[in-house]
Amino acid sequence: MPEKQRKILVTSALPYANGDIHIGHLVEYLQTDIWVRFQKLRGHRCCYFCADDTHGTAITISSRKKGVTEEEFIAGVSKAHQADFAAFGIEFDNYGSTNSPETRRFCVEIWDAIRKAGLVEEREIKQLYDPVAETFLADRFVKGTCPKCGKPDQYGDSCECGAVYSPADLIDPVSVLSNTTPELRSAKHLFVEIERCHEFLADWVANSGALQPEIVNYLNGQFLSDALRPWDISRPAPYFGFEIPDSPGNYWYVWYDAPIGYIGSSLQWCEKHGEDIYSWWKDPETEIHHFIGKDICYFHTLFWPAMLKSVGYNLPTKVHIHGFLTVNGEKMSKSRGTFILARTYLNHLNPSYLRYFFATKTSPRVDDLDLNFEEMEAKVNADLVGNVVNLASRSAKFASVTGLGEAYPEDGGLFAAAAGISEEVAAAYEERDYGKALRLILECGYRANKFFEDAAPWTIRKELAALEADPAADPAAKEAAFRKLQDVATVSVNLFRQIIVYLTPILPDLTAQTEELLGCRIASWSDAQTPLLGKKIGQYKHMMTRVPKEGIEAMIEETKKLNTPAPSAEPADAAADAEPAAPEAAVSDDQWKDSGQPLFDEPMSETITIDDFLKVDLRVGRIVEAEQVAEARKLLKLKISLGGTETRQVFAGIKAAYPEPEKLIGRLVVFVANLQPRKMKFGLSEGMVVASGPGGPDVFLTFPDEGAKPGMRLH
Ligand code: 2FM
Ligand code: ZN
Repeated sequence: MPEKQRKILVTSALPYANGDIHIGHLVEYLQTDIWVRFQKLRGHRCCYFCADDTHGTAITISSRKKGVTEEEFIAGVSKAHQADFAAFGIEFDNYGSTNSPETRRFCVEIWDAIRKAGLVEEREIKQLYDPVAETFLADRFVKGTCPKCGKPDQYGDSCECGAVYSPADLIDPVSVLSNTTPELRSAKHLFVEIERCHEFLADWVANSGALQPEIVNYLNGQFLSDALRPWDISRPAPYFGFEIPDSPGNYWYVWYDAPIGYIGSSLQWCEKHGEDIYSWWKDPETEIHHFIGKDICYFHTLFWPAMLKSVGYNLPTKVHIHGFLTVNGEKMSKSRGTFILARTYLNHLNPSYLRYFFATKTSPRVDDLDLNFEEMEAKVNADLVGNVVNLASRSAKFASVTGLGEAYPEDGGLFAAAAGISEEVAAAYEERDYGKALRLILECGYRANKFFEDAAPWTIRKELAALEADPAADPAAKEAAFRKLQDVATVSVNLFRQIIVYLTPILPDLTAQTEELLGCRIASWSDAQTPLLGKKIGQYKHMMTRVPKEGIEAMIEETKKLNTPAPSAEPADAAADAEPAAPEAAVSDDQWKDSGQPLFDEPMSETITIDDFLKVDLRVGRIVEAEQVAEARKLLKLKISLGGTETRQVFAGIKAAYPEPEKLIGRLVVFVANLQPRKMKFGLSEGMVVASGPGGPDVFLTFPDEGAKPGMRLH
């Protein structure tokens, strides 16, 4: 290992416990997870800590709406958040909650320190109070008319016209909690006089190297060029949070304890592992890395360092700040179906696609990142399925016959070249320039695939087969042909393995599949330096399918439905089902056959080899059960028998075409039997029935001719 072992503590922003994880959140958690996995693979001690951010008025309101306590409410949200993260392969070393004794302990410790440093002052402020709900109103819980432009129905802090004001300035304010007029009341609040840290912060921002250059400019231009405004850090009861020990009846504002949740979560981990919390937060040898979005930069680059400094903890080594997610070039939108929840995505698509796509778009800059589904489909299909996985499937097929040779063969310098980019790829990961890392890695893939094609192992195998079939063949010639084939397999498998080592932080599932294939773990970045030799290889199992277009469409449809309020009389799905379907007779069979329209609509694909075709295991299946999926607009649930006791469950998008599913029972179909099972909202779909047609009511199942039996393969 060229580098000395580093001790690195990593955090992502704590998700607020008031809603589900969506793809916008995932930009950050995925890039952090990739960075952490990279550091671990490099052999560093790296821990990734996160927690739910659980305090504040919004949580109280949501839990009241649900008729549960705040604690019950946040427990449910935490479970859902953690399940979503796990499904995307995001692995925390500890996932806690800000509503924990560990976080409270550090809130107190830091509070004492900032009090001692003379940073806290009490001031009287005027705030709107809702006498019906018996609570002071945070800015977003007041609406009224903009004092600047006169527009009604604006929030308490800002108007669509761009004006920013205090809620007390609103004309005709109304509490959104009770719909009554709030009163202006005086209240004593505690403020952190952050201006007293100005000099320290200006120096830290300019000289620590913890911040991206554009962030340094932003902080200097927007905040540090002026006096820093005192920070209102307390809220009067009732408030869901921690009561301030030396100010009874007042609670710490949610943004005070949120970043302290990083330390609380670290402490939970330390207690489980018998480690000293201060060796992580006070030892100057330990690096602290925060990953956050640009919207919460102010809290992490000004308040947070000021608090850490006051208590004598490590300052952030680096705050990695990213931009926002746009979808198809626009802000995520509920009505366009692009405000996609993590769960909805998982119902339709493989999480590795998103891990990969976001990685291709990740750079060290603060730019926004665009998710365009066509681009995602094209990239995953070309780079992963067409380049990387293709190399595995082609080379493993030969390697499983020959095994890997004892010595690494001459390969024209390909292995050495891929080993040689190790530090360059590592530097790109370190800098969060995953796009660059991937460009370097994919180059290795192209070169390896070219090597494979030039070596044409299928011709060597034919020669070998001919020699083996010939009893008079010279054993030395047979041996030579076998060695030649083994050499190609040994080189190709090893070039593939190097790529997988480098891709491991981004695609851990692909690494796990590769480990199974090779019967050997990928445990270290340096595994890319040494070839794997003298080993048998397992049977290649399918690793990744192309991105299914229908999965993307179904995900967007589901998102739209989640956001469409149901019409009063009928549930939303029933209404969608009631859309008039085009009459079946509108297009006659003859027209389809003769017009050339289908070929025009969907042009022929590229030529493939017979081997490519044979990868798809097509079987005759019999539909033994068929039923409507009431909640799904397009789906039928089918049980397919492949003969004997072998059955598969599939969800087929053929509801509009086959409105009486019971009529399908007993019929034979062509069935894709080796398709990676897909978890859908309604259950697991374990294959696909083959059908043609453009969709909707025009979907035509393919039926095998009489005499075919379930389980027969289609060649
Ligand atoms: O912006 C948010 O969603 C906050 N919950 C982030 C908190 S980050 C940290 F400070 F805890
Ligand atoms: Zn206005």
